[in-house]
Amino acid sequence: MDAFNGQKLDKIPAHVPPELVYEYDNARDPRLLQDPHARMRSLILEAPPIFFTPYNGGSWVVTRKKAIVDITMNPEVFSNAFISGAKDSQQSLSLLPISVDPPKHTAYRAPLNQPLSAKSVAGLESAIRAMTNELIDKVLAAGRCDFLSDIAEPLPVTLFMKLAGMPTDRLAEFRHLATQATSSTVDHATREGVFKRIAGILAEVIKARQEKREEDLISHLLDVNINGQNPTFQEMLGYSITLFLGGLETVVNALSFGVLRLARDQELQAKLRADPSLLPGAIEELLRLHGIASTVRQVTRDEVCHGVQFKKGDTVSLLLPAANYDDAAFPNPEQFILGRTEQHQTFNTGPHRCVGLNLARLEMKVFYQEWLKRVPSFRLDSQSPPRFMGGFNLAVTSLPLVW
Ligand code: HEM
Repeated sequence: MDAFNGQKLDKIPAHVPPELVYEYDNARDPRLLQDPHARMRSLILEAPPIFFTPYNGGSWVVTRKKAIVDITMNPEVFSNAFISGAKDSQQSLSLLPISVDPPKHTAYRAPLNQPLSAKSVAGLESAIRAMTNELIDKVLAAGRCDFLSDIAEPLPVTLFMKLAGMPTDRLAEFRHLATQATSSTVDHATREGVFKRIAGILAEVIKARQEKREEDLISHLLDVNINGQNPTFQEMLGYSITLFLGGLETVVNALSFGVLRLARDQELQAKLRADPSLLPGAIEELLRLHGIASTVRQVTRDEVCHGVQFKKGDTVSLLLPAANYDDAAFPNPEQFILGRTEQHQTFNTGPHRCVGLNLARLEMKVFYQEWLKRVPSFRLDSQSPPRFMGGFNLAVTSLPLVW
């Protein structure tokens, strides 16, 4: 799937009423590139709740929380089955468990629930703390860093390698591949090549674990039982690639947008530094204000939902970061308010709700604890403002900080 190919339809499909057409390019919209989350808010204020954009092959875009919840709870009509990963040499990979619809999904999702539960990931806390401190050691004395390349990228990549049981002496190579795989500036052919290399590296790890189990997620997955069988090699690859894609760019950007917010809000920064017990609540509010991933569904049969006629085969983008600015769910949505009770949409709802959210929250908590303890009051470098990117994931591409 190449959903951000830039191709613009010359003709709006006949079933789309003209008043629901709104021209929005989720990869190249200039206001998005200037301030991604301000653009999310403006879509709530300016666009129909469900609109059709002719960009990127043409798709519906859903921005309200209630509609997104209803769609994610109805996988029979709004399906994930068309999501496929990079092709390996013979066939296209099924990304597990994301590309499987319920009821089949349950069996594919189950093996991830336990190893990624809050209790299990707690075992990684001291490793995350040590990695965070090593990264801080490298920049602290300089009084400046590029937060993205110095901290936000290496932390989740190193952690993923540890979780998957990969040798961290290949960190530099893997980080380079991770960055390229998720960059919007590489062309399609390069990206395909990068995915093949990632699949190749993950395949090596799977083969090594087939011979000898270790204490890691890949070893665990090799022995799980899915409908009476252990996963096939292709299924193992499908799991590994989803975990790689799911856990890297998302955390990189959650950390970057959160730190950007704190760099711009000295008062909030000082408050959290003075009282780290506020961090778990603050992290949820940072995650709400700075949603990262959007996702897509494909319509399996003609259906009216929230007053809109969808036709079989339509693509539906669920703009999760916009739903976090929906006034109907979040009063005064632009304000940072500790203690909100309404669940944000950043990890989505429904059967595919992020299975890595405990790990993501833990990474963020440990990172903020150490960063705020050790790094004095930090702000943006006035000489080089942050830069952003659109696409499936809202992303920061450069974030110079000074202290
Ligand atoms: C702040 C960080 C993260 C964000 C914003 C995020 C966001 C999401 C979202 C929105 C979905 C649902 C996609 C859909 O409904 O189509 C999802 C699913 C998923 N995420 Fe995350 N994620 C994050 C971190 C992680 C981490 C750290 C991991 C790996 C340990 C991970 C692994 C996955 C997997 C495997 C799925 C598929 C679940 C399924 O299909 O049942 N994510 N994530």
